[in-house]
Amino acid sequence: MKVAVVGATGYTGGEVLRLMVHHPKVEVVAVTSKHSVGEPLASRLPFLKGQYNLTLEALDIKKIAKKADLIFIALAHTQAIDPVQRFINSGKKVIDLSADYRLRSPTLYKKWYGTAHRYPAFLKKVVYGLTEVYRNKIRRCDLVANPGCYPTGSLLPLYPFLKEGVIDTSQELIIDAKSGVSGAGSKPSSKTHFPELSGGMAAYNIGRHRHLPEIEQELSRIGKKKMKTLFTPYLLPVNRGILTTIYLPLKKKLSQKKIDAILNIYQDEFFIRRREDSPDLAHVRGSNFCDIAGFATDSGRTAILISAIDNLVKGASGQAIQNMNVMMGWDESLGLSAPGLFP
Ligand SMILES: NC(=O)c1ccc[n+]([C@@H]2O[C@H](COP(=O)([O-])OP(=O)(O)OC[C@H]3O[C@@H](n4cnc5c(N)ncnc54)[C@H](OP(=O)(O)O)[C@@H]3O)[C@@H](O)[C@H]2O)c1
Repeated sequence: MKVAVVGATGYTGGEVLRLMVHHPKVEVVAVTSKHSVGEPLASRLPFLKGQYNLTLEALDIKKIAKKADLIFIALAHTQAIDPVQRFINSGKKVIDLSADYRLRSPTLYKKWYGTAHRYPAFLKKVVYGLTEVYRNKIRRCDLVANPGCYPTGSLLPLYPFLKEGVIDTSQELIIDAKSGVSGAGSKPSSKTHFPELSGGMAAYNIGRHRHLPEIEQELSRIGKKKMKTLFTPYLLPVNRGILTTIYLPLKKKLSQKKIDAILNIYQDEFFIRRREDSPDLAHVRGSNFCDIAGFATDSGRTAILISAIDNLVKGASGQAIQNMNVMMGWDESLGLSAPGLFP
């Protein structure tokens, strides 16, 4: 299948290309950039030297739609709204890595992304690409809104407990999530500048991160009950990874045995790995795995869930490729089955 990557020079676009080198059923036929049109791909992404013979081109929808059957869009939020629509209208399959089609409510989109969505009626039809949860819908769709990195790290451990109906929804759920700095994209800022970041760690956007409405939307959809969350993200002085800790208020006491049984819903999921000790960013770096552990507490009224993902892989480009595999009816792990880096 012929594939294009729009926003190929960014962190997630580059990661789609890195992973696709190993994909047996895909040929990358177009890569776009805003600032480097006409340059060889490897001039911006030197780690891909020798892998693709491609020149960066401008985002010309008609030209790209003529060459490619499926398009990955890896643009900043608000910039993907129109390209997604135009590719869909040209009969193409699209996987959008931005947040532009994740929220089902246009009111929430405007509130959190500061601009009115130009296709509000369309939003409810879009499939949210949390693969392990929405696989059947993904199989039948042409547009996937690929989930955010924090939502992926939070929702995957929570899903089994939502399905089981054991969460006390009268209380707020607490999510604490620490992210590597590539989560902020490739554009530098004072917060992501090495001397400012190295050796420290701080929370940011406390209680007002853009991924909060996305997490709450999906908690309420899957759990079929409105759920409120206290979400605190932190910036870690590492490049990749999100370690998420969730404090889960329970309707009634849960033993360790019961927690283990609830997490068994994932026993046949290739990309979800159960851990008995704490998941570790080092063990998922560069891979599409999500490592999950659940712990009972002495009181039994709160469970502690911990997950680890690579924000650029399961939290973005890897999950996007997993979704492409599902859309095409291919083995879900094509191009993605390798474990991460060691050490
Ligand atoms: N980073 C993560 O961990 C992560 C995880 C999940 C989802 N996401 C989402 O994925 C999307 C991409 O994130 P990223 O981290 O890859 O961002 P990034 O590193 O900043 O890359 C942005 C890309 O967009 C291109 N671009 C910039 N302005 C453009 C314009 N006006 N028109 C067309 N292309 C333009 C850039 O090309 P040039 O620089 O070559 O011009 C670059 O290829 C974002 O919506 C982000 O929220 C990111």
